[in-house]
Order: sequence, then structure tokens, then C-alpha cells
Amino acid sequence: MQVVGRRQLVAGNWKMNGDKALVGKMQKIFATAGLDNMDVVICPPSPYFGLFDGKLKLGSQNISEFDSGAHTGEVSVAMLNEFKCQYSIVGHSERRADNHESNELVALKVEQVLKAGLTPILCVGEPESVREIGKLFEFIAAQLNAVLMKVGVSQFADVVLAYEPIWAIGTGKTASPAQAQEVHAFIRGHLAKQDVNIAANIIILYGGSVKGNNAQELFSQVDVDGGLIGGASLDPQEFLSICQAANQ
Ligand code: PGA
Repeated sequence: MQVVGRRQLVAGNWKMNGDKALVGKMQKIFATAGLDNMDVVICPPSPYFGLFDGKLKLGSQNISEFDSGAHTGEVSVAMLNEFKCQYSIVGHSERRADNHESNELVALKVEQVLKAGLTPILCVGEPESVREIGKLFEFIAAQLNAVLMKVGVSQFADVVLAYEPIWAIGTGKTASPAQAQEVHAFIRGHLAKQDVNIAANIIILYGGSVKGNNAQELFSQVDVDGGLIGGASLDPQEFLSICQAANQ
């Protein structure tokens, strides 16, 4: 739902998928898409950045917390800037799990992205076991607090949040619109305790098995400002229909 002051955003996280041909197909289909009321961001694997023609906004899937140096396999914010990347996903649950990224490391990465003038897409979200024992809100609050403590609430004016319940990622098991709304409202309320204006204006995306056929219902929730899309962002037509749902 388009709320005054908040523009809907849909970001496609290709993860370790896609190829040169997909870059071409995506650009072609979005060149004539006419999506004037929302923003689209593509987060491809970093080798593909240079193939984009500059019309679609780009984001990285990860970022180093360091400026430069002997950190094999890492990509710096300065490199993202050179390739006109405006966003960086930080703290995706797959990186938290596969690369043991702690809340504290995620906070350092958010700080690094902000320092370079890019927009972090900060991911938070609980495993199913945490939801089952009723600790959902404590878990999300701890993820947010680590970053709030590091950068301060005023910096959240330049942050995009993504609520991604781990049990819904790549499983086809989407959170219901009511479940998504409940957590989004909690997140906004948590920030509002520190700064009402920042909380009212921050974009909060939902991620986890968003598809063309469920996007509209999810995005029409009052605190859901778009989506972070994994699997469905690899199919240009499906991704377009998700973006069209956000454009309404
Ligand atoms: P999914 O992934 O859309 O394939 O569930 C979402 C994500 O991991 O960002």
C-alpha cells in the first residue's frame, strides 16, 4: 500500500544464480515496463554489475566491513560505488547461517554501507523454532538493536529494512499477509520508541516466497512497502508482475 512519504520498492536477490543472458532479458523487459510509482533494484552476483546499462538500479548481495586490503574474496563499498551500485543487502539469513555473520558483524557492515553513501537493505527474520516458542519479537528486536547501537537511530533515515522469516525463504511457504503485517508493525513500533518520524518513513520490505500471485495481497498491508524477492526474481515476467503489484 502506497503510504504518504513511503515509495514502494522491490529488490530482486538473484543469489548465486543467473547468467549474462538473464541480464539482457531483464533489461529488455524493464525498459518498457513504465513503473513510475515504485523503485526496482536488481542484486545480481557481482561479476554481472558491469553488464547493466545503468537504467535499472543495482544492489550487491553482501559487502565487506573493511575498506580494502588483504581480504580474499571480498568486495568493498568503493567498488560498488564505481559500478553505480546504490544498495547493498546486509545480514541476509543465508549469509548469517553460511558465513556465521553475527548481529555485531552485520552492524559493522551497515555502518560501512552508510559511510559510502549507499543504502543498506538490512535483513532481519526468525527461524521457525524461535516463532514456535514465542520469542519472535525478542529475536527481531535483538537483530535491530545491534545495528541501532552501532549507527544510531538517525542513520535509519537511510536504511531499508527487510523482514524475511527464515521458514518462508525458498520454501514456497509465504507468511500470511496478517503475519507479515504483524511483524512489520512491530518493527516500525520498535523504531518509533526512538524516533517517530524515522519509523513512519522507513521502507520495510517483506521477503520469503513472494510470487506474482501473492504480491498484491502482501504489499497491500499498511506497513509492507514492497518486497525482497529471491526465486521469483530469476523469471523476468514473474518479477515484472511482482513489481506491477507494487506500482499500484
Ligand atoms: P525467496 O527468497 O523469494 O526465494 O523465498 C527471498 C530471499 O531470500 O530474499
